[in-house]
Amino acid sequence: MREMLAAPCFFGQYNRFIMRNKAKNRLQCKKFSCVNRNFFASNENKGEIKNSKYQYTLLLKPNGHPPRSGLFVCDFLDKIDLFGARVLDVGIGESAILSIHAVFAGAQEVVGIDIDCEAIKWAKKNIGENNLNGKVTVKNISIEDFKDSKKFDYVISNPPQMPAKKIVSTHDDGGRDGRRYIKKIIKFSSKSLNTGGALLLTAFDFLGVVDRYGEAETICTLLQNFGFRIESLGSYIKTARRGSYTEKSLPWIKKIYPRYRVERNSSGKIVYKMFVIEARKA
Ligand SMILES: C[S@@+](CC[C@H](N)C(=O)[O-])C[C@H]1O[C@@H](n2cnc3c(N)ncnc32)[C@H](O)[C@@H]1O
Repeated sequence: MREMLAAPCFFGQYNRFIMRNKAKNRLQCKKFSCVNRNFFASNENKGEIKNSKYQYTLLLKPNGHPPRSGLFVCDFLDKIDLFGARVLDVGIGESAILSIHAVFAGAQEVVGIDIDCEAIKWAKKNIGENNLNGKVTVKNISIEDFKDSKKFDYVISNPPQMPAKKIVSTHDDGGRDGRRYIKKIIKFSSKSLNTGGALLLTAFDFLGVVDRYGEAETICTLLQNFGFRIESLGSYIKTARRGSYTEKSLPWIKKIYPRYRVERNSSGKIVYKMFVIEARKA
C-alpha cells in the first residue's frame, strides 16, 4: 500500500474505458477506468492520509491500513452529482472515508452505518476531526436491522465481498459466493431510494459483475432484476500483495467462480478489477 500511495504517477490518469468483449459492449452505460487514486497522500508514519483536493485528513487507528478500495470509490464520487443529496453509507468503516468524501463532493446529509463498534468509534473521531458532526450521523447497526423514516438519494457502499466458506472477518468476508451483503444492499436500496435515486456499489470482477464466471447471474443482471438501470461503471485495477487475503482466498474464488481467469503482473502479483457500479432506480 505504502508503495502504491507513494508512486510517482500519483495523480492518476482518467481514461475512457476500452471495451474489449461483446458482453461488455451490450451493457449500455457510461464506462470509466482509472489505475491510480487521485488526490490522496499517505503519511502512515503519522497514522493519517490526506486528501489534497478537499483538504481533509483521515486518522488511521494504530496498526490500521489506509482504506484501499475506498480511495477508488472517492474518485468515482467526484464524477457524479451529489449536490444536495441525502446519502446512506453502508459499512462506513473506521476511516469514514466515503461519508466524509461525499460531504465534500456536495452531499447535504450523510447517514453512515456499521456493524462494528470499533469502526463506529473511529468513524466518529474522523468526522469530528473534519468538523462534519452536523453533516454526518453515525449508527452502530447492521444493514439487516437498519430502518429510516426518510428515503435516500444515494446509497453508497464498499461492502465485505470476499468469497469465504465461513464468515471470519466481518470487514472482508461476503459469505460463500461473496454476494451476501451485496444482495442485502441491493434489496434495501430498491425500497429505500427516492425515485431517480441511485446505488453506488463496489464489486470485484471475479464475482461476475459484467461477465458470468459461475452459476449465478451477473451482478448487473441482479440489479436490473431489482428494477435498477446501470448508469455508469467504473473499473479500477487492484494489486493483491503476496500472502494477502485475496491471494489466500484464491482456491475458494476459483471453486465458486470457475470461469474466472486470474491475471498476474510482471512481478507475479495477482491483479484484478474492482468495479464501482452506479445503478439508478428506474
Ligand atoms: C470493506 S469495509 C469498507 C469500509 C469503508 N466504507 C471503505 O470504503 O473503506 C466494509 C465495512 O462494512 C462493515 N459491515 C460488515 N457487515 C455489515 C453489516 N451487516 N451491516 C453494516 N455494516 C457492515 C464492516 O464492519 C466494515 O467496516
